Amino acid sequence: MQHARLALLGLLALLASLLTGAAAADILVLTPFGSRSVRGLFGALTEGLAARGHAVTLVTSGAAPRPHANVTHVQAPHSSLDQMDLFEVRRDAAAFRLWLRALPSVARRLYEDPAVMALWRRRHHFDAIIINSAANEMAFPFLLGVSAPFITLAPAGTEPLQLSYLGNMVSPAALPSVVVPYHDTLSLWERLVNTLATGVLRAYFWRSVGRPLTAALRDTFPDLPDPHQVYPRQALALLNRHHLLDGALPLLPNQVEVGCLACRPAQPHTLPQEVLAWLEGAGEAGAVYFSLGSFQDSSSIPLEYVDTLLNAFSKLPQRFVLKLSGSPRILPPNVKVFEWLPQQDVLGAARGGAGRSGAAKDGAGMQLPGAILRGALRGITGL
Ligand SMILES: *[C@@H]1O[C@H](CO)[C@@H](O)[C@H](O)[C@H]1NC(C)=O
Repeated sequence: MQHARLALLGLLALLASLLTGAAAADILVLTPFGSRSVRGLFGALTEGLAARGHAVTLVTSGAAPRPHANVTHVQAPHSSLDQMDLFEVRRDAAAFRLWLRALPSVARRLYEDPAVMALWRRRHHFDAIIINSAANEMAFPFLLGVSAPFITLAPAGTEPLQLSYLGNMVSPAALPSVVVPYHDTLSLWERLVNTLATGVLRAYFWRSVGRPLTAALRDTFPDLPDPHQVYPRQALALLNRHHLLDGALPLLPNQVEVGCLACRPAQPHTLPQEVLAWLEGAGEAGAVYFSLGSFQDSSSIPLEYVDTLLNAFSKLPQRFVLKLSGSPRILPPNVKVFEWLPQQDVLGAARGGAGRSGAAKDGAGMQLPGAILRGALRGITGL
């Protein structure tokens, strides 16, 4: 007994010394294809890793993250998602299909880039490789012949397919696919539709994205395995979700919730006086914050939708703060529009449950979960 205890203590001491002696790692983060908000999430991950002493090489399209001595940014050549109009896509799904069909050519352009290829040749040098799990299979050539851990970060939180790649098959009766608008309590009909949608999405994604993309990449990397052989190699899957907002879910030890990754303590006092006064004057009814996030350029929202929203807002007792750009309109007396608002600070100011958001829930709002946890619901969650 005594011996066993000593052995255990010895083991713990060894583990502790290994953990505390953890050296700075050289980490490659790849999200060559993604919207502004996805880039924001990966930017926050990069900043956090660098702040802990690691060196990070980040591959994204669009602007470089904030300069840091230990962060290297490699620009991916394509950023068409920034121009995509969600309202157009909503009206005509053809735009969405076109966008998915563009992936093989985006992938070709990525590896025609000398900076990307130079990085690809140095891929063995990294201690870990983190890849965006949403439609970024074009980054898989970076895993060729590499033994470093392959980690994924899922920006949209929980997608049944993404969970299943590690063997965690969550019942479609309990977990809605990202393509259906359901919450986690599904009716019989919704369960049926969701079961079909989960299966159809898998087949559709493989036929229209996976296969053509792999074919395009094999022109340059003939040994590239099928993506379905690569997905299960994930050593760790980080999920941008939180069970308080997205519902409880059985997860494996290497499927870890990281919702709130991009959040920081709210600083409501830094808000413009006009915003603060408007929120504070909302009284008992409270205030509602409305934003479409950074994916959609809000100046291009068709007027009919803006009018529908304003009309609905005017009938409610709350005060509204809208993040919206474009021409000024006649506004109902309970609505104020601002070109730009720091979301986390607004929600922090509207505390006690007064702040609500009209933007996406279900983990799709990249910063929303954190903002809610830190700000509006702080009193309830104790975070
Ligand atoms: C960059 O990394 C080195 C080596 O780990 C470390 O000594 C240095 O403090 C880091 N620089 C910054 C600005 O964090």
